[in-house]
Amino acid sequence: MIIQERIRNISGLIFLTISLITTAFTAEAQNARIKIDIDRKIGEVDKNLYGNFVEHLGRCVYGGIYEEGSTLSDDKGIRLDVLEAVKDLNVSITRYPGGNFVSNYHWKDGIGPKEQRPPRMELAWERLETNRFGTDEFMSYARRMNTEPYFSVNMGTGTIEEAQQWVEYCNVKGGPYYAELRKKNGYPEPYNIKYWSLGNEMDGFWQMGHLNAVDYSKKALEAAKLMRLTSPNIKLIAAGSSNYRPEADPNEWNATILHELRDVIDYLALHMYVGNPDNNYYNFISTPRVLEERTRVVKGMIDREMQNANRGNRPPIYIAWDEYNIWYRARAEKSMAGTRALEEHYNLEDALVISGFLNAFIRNSDIVKMANMAQLVNVIAPIFTSEKGMFKQSIYYPLQLFAQNMQGTALDVHVDCETYNTEKFFIGLGESTTQQKNVPFLDVSATYRNNELTLCVVNRNKEKGITADLLAQEGFFNGDFEVFEVNGPDIKAENDFGKTTVETIKKPSLKVKKTNKISYSFAPHSITMIKGFIEK
Ligand code: AHR
Repeated sequence: MIIQERIRNISGLIFLTISLITTAFTAEAQNARIKIDIDRKIGEVDKNLYGNFVEHLGRCVYGGIYEEGSTLSDDKGIRLDVLEAVKDLNVSITRYPGGNFVSNYHWKDGIGPKEQRPPRMELAWERLETNRFGTDEFMSYARRMNTEPYFSVNMGTGTIEEAQQWVEYCNVKGGPYYAELRKKNGYPEPYNIKYWSLGNEMDGFWQMGHLNAVDYSKKALEAAKLMRLTSPNIKLIAAGSSNYRPEADPNEWNATILHELRDVIDYLALHMYVGNPDNNYYNFISTPRVLEERTRVVKGMIDREMQNANRGNRPPIYIAWDEYNIWYRARAEKSMAGTRALEEHYNLEDALVISGFLNAFIRNSDIVKMANMAQLVNVIAPIFTSEKGMFKQSIYYPLQLFAQNMQGTALDVHVDCETYNTEKFFIGLGESTTQQKNVPFLDVSATYRNNELTLCVVNRNKEKGITADLLAQEGFFNGDFEVFEVNGPDIKAENDFGKTTVETIKKPSLKVKKTNKISYSFAPHSITMIKGFIEK
């Protein structure tokens, strides 16, 4: 008996030793693997995933895109240095004019001769709103930056009639009063604005004119009716949840809105801001996973409504993440109001998180069909100005890389690499808590168009490079593969006026001859984009 026990113990020990050796051996010898199968398609990447947002807040409009009298501006007050940087971002769609601002904005204040426009107390962000920039100025800016306009109507202190009249001003060719008023103001052609959101963050107690879900649905439904009677082909976006505080019930809000508005809306808008207030890199870098979790939950709710609804020929409902970003430093009372409100200075780890968001949008591109970084200039933004110049923040670079390269069909790639677990932590500031388990160090998304593959790989590992085998499951890699990397000396590296530490570097191309395997070493805390052909 004792002998048998010993033999069992010894053989157990031998087995354990062999497997430990094997594990140790494979951990060092085996590369991470990224399997790419061009037949495993998620959905078409909507160009509107690379959207942005201009709100009358802080120095986003005044002192940002628009600065009358500046030597850096043209005779219309447009900051030309800023416009150049904006154009290079390839912003597909731009939301305007708010945000919290819109819930007390009356669009008629911002049209006609500038000297006659009334200055107003701006209550959301505590400024004086001069109204010298309004609908027509934004539309001419949108044309210059080559972006699709996306307007938000006032569902707080505004009326459904006011919303209808704005659509008439913008989209009706001529005849009725507001269409004629636009012509009289010097704009003969209608703007044909396609995207309109029915208010902003109406679930938030902070919103001026905040409503409960039932009341909001009733108001939005009637606004939608009038707006569509005026301009039948517009796309409507409902205010989904932005309030994920423990005392709120975001899923209840989303469920009600989807149920009540399912016959009129095209998108449900969701918002998310994250931060790193306790300086915990791995918690922070994992926050885009939460966006993905929320996306999946809302997708399920949409599926349920679509299944139950008799929607006739109405098109599907998609998700618009029409505000997302990192926002935590500029949260103290003094940085939440006035002309310098919400000015965040971003670093490399922020750029990694932004790539995480963008990867998440691509991976969910069957349901996420719009995303807007909040915001474009100065206010939690990729572009930062002073009276004398501007610089591109770290987060500018991944946004630009994605907008310029990640198009076509999103592929469902398989990633096999080491993982980590986070602690339990708060999302944003005091919102819901989360704990993320088995988070892969490599965060990957891929698109495929005209035989060209584009792969974005974020190496979340702070210290170690990771070598990965990219494996084509169908066809062969062939030709020159371009490689771009966004990185910096350390995760806290940031840019400033006259100092660019974090940026996109074009690395030497990979010369590939008909093979189904490419090995690449992804640098610590980096974003890498690899682009080349897969031949069948
Ligand atoms: O983008 C800043 C603000 O964040 C927006 O005005 C509001 O919608 C959100 O709470």
